[in-house]
Amino acid sequence: MKRLKDLMTMKEEKEKITMVTAYDYPSAKQAEEAGLDTILVGDSLGMTVLGYESTVQVTLADMIHHARAVRRGAPNTFMVVDIPFGEVGVSESYDIKQAVKLYRETDANAIKAEGAHLTDFIKNVTRMGIPVVSHLGLTPQSVGVTGYKLQAGTKEAAQQLIKDAQVVERAGAIMLVLEAIPSDLAKVISETVTIPVIGIGAGRHTDGQVLVYHDILQYGTDHRPKFVKPYGDFSIGVPALTQYREEVKSQAFPSDDHTYKKQIMSEVEDHD
Ligand code: KIV
Repeated sequence: MKRLKDLMTMKEEKEKITMVTAYDYPSAKQAEEAGLDTILVGDSLGMTVLGYESTVQVTLADMIHHARAVRRGAPNTFMVVDIPFGEVGVSESYDIKQAVKLYRETDANAIKAEGAHLTDFIKNVTRMGIPVVSHLGLTPQSVGVTGYKLQAGTKEAAQQLIKDAQVVERAGAIMLVLEAIPSDLAKVISETVTIPVIGIGAGRHTDGQVLVYHDILQYGTDHRPKFVKPYGDFSIGVPALTQYREEVKSQAFPSDDHTYKKQIMSEVEDHD
């Protein structure tokens, strides 16, 4: 398994860090087999696998349930788990209690928290020994306020984001995810902080990239953000299921090839 020191070395040596989301045992197994450096159990699972409109409905119990399956599928991959909306930023003691529960029950290597307002949270849980990844730029838990659009598009907002990145690094964040920001700004931030910066919709200059599993594979997604490049096509599921339905109706399935050869009824004397 890659450790934080390996990820830091990759940044120093300019080897790009790869991250993909995974939400269950098979997607995690695939990510590990494909050799991804890191896996994110993102609260995007609210939309991708639970069918919610946003990440806001996702609970700590949902995250724990999915992250445990991911860990079983990818026991040897650095795994980051999102702390969901409403479980952090409440009060110091509540936040710490939820972070400990998430970290302990999922066997995660780090937890991820959205927003620059969580500096004290990062400090507190880091002090306890829980590694925290910070997520800045577009933070999906706040889309009710920001909307899904490019962030830090003004001089002032860009300057603020550079400051925020430095503040979360000083607070102890081990990594930074930057979402939906101009690529020249992401470049400056990646060069300014010493921790690895992983981008999504932040251009090519970050230390690594993350994409959502379902976006990469076009699996149940209706909308494709500009920054997504699909690498596979799971829409094959509908024609495959249609053919299965038709073959059961027409009795083409199951054929002899899919039926056990053993015949028993000639040995059974009495039956109704
Ligand atoms: O939940 C998620 O999938 C994320 C990525 C978009 C970085 O936070």
